[in-house]
Amino acid sequence: MNIPKLNHIETQSLSGTIGLEIKGIDIRQKLTEAEKKFIHESLLENLVLLFPSQKEVSPKELREFSNLFGTIDEDPFSYPFIMPTDPDFPEIWNIIKEDDDKSVNFGGFWHADVTYRKCPHKVGVIYAKECPAQGGDTMFSNQYLAYETLSDGMKKLLDNLKAKHSNVMLYGGESARFGAVSKKRAASPEDRLFASKTAEQTKVDIVENIHPVVRSHPETGRKSLYVNRGFTQSFAGMTIEESLPLLNFLWEHAARPEFTCRYRWSPNTVGVWDNRCTLHYAVNDYYGAKRHFQRIAIHEESRPN
Ligand code: SIN
Repeated sequence: MNIPKLNHIETQSLSGTIGLEIKGIDIRQKLTEAEKKFIHESLLENLVLLFPSQKEVSPKELREFSNLFGTIDEDPFSYPFIMPTDPDFPEIWNIIKEDDDKSVNFGGFWHADVTYRKCPHKVGVIYAKECPAQGGDTMFSNQYLAYETLSDGMKKLLDNLKAKHSNVMLYGGESARFGAVSKKRAASPEDRLFASKTAEQTKVDIVENIHPVVRSHPETGRKSLYVNRGFTQSFAGMTIEESLPLLNFLWEHAARPEFTCRYRWSPNTVGVWDNRCTLHYAVNDYYGAKRHFQRIAIHEESRPN
């Protein structure tokens, strides 16, 4: 990688394998070409970037910064969780969980965004507006390493497989049924409100697509594992029963602690992840506190291959 050295920028890795915190860039300002290159190359190398201690970022500024990563997806999710948007910025989702909400949270399961679509997102951008005093972290996992650490035999098997991804959340729904918890309180089973909701019931069109189980990154050329518990249903041409044992192994493997980092948010932090080679998980452990984030997604032109 060819990351330029810039004296005004300080960085801190979030773990040995994924994530970089960057200080010294005001994302609301017009960035120099060197700063843009620094961000681009750092994302390819670290997969997740965090820009803490920003001044308050307006929707327009968030949109302008997001443009750096490609074309903004104006209709970013087809997902049973419908989140409010500002009428002037319908592409920005307000991910809000109120302090008395005992139910499930948005993104509380290991997934890459919208893999049920033909062209899933290239990059995700997130802005922390209001954070719980404790909890509400996001975890990320490096899927290059998930692939590279498999045995040669398993790699050979997976290299030839494709899988069906769907927004009905057959398994993601299961993990997302885990209601809010905190040090003092846990939601009761009745509070796990997502339990009976499916894409069908929430009037979201069902979207299903087949993708390779191992994909190549269009910019780095590296291969990564490309299945996730949220949206992958079965291997193409196989039944769910036939698929599940191997999928279960791969989902567990994909989230090994060695491949992950866990980010503790503070207000006015902006995060960016490469959705082509990572998974993420929003931890639902802040029952009693409000969390308000904003999300933008960057469209990928080509299908995973
Ligand atoms: C998501 O985009 O899946 C949610 C991330 C978060 O709220 O931390």
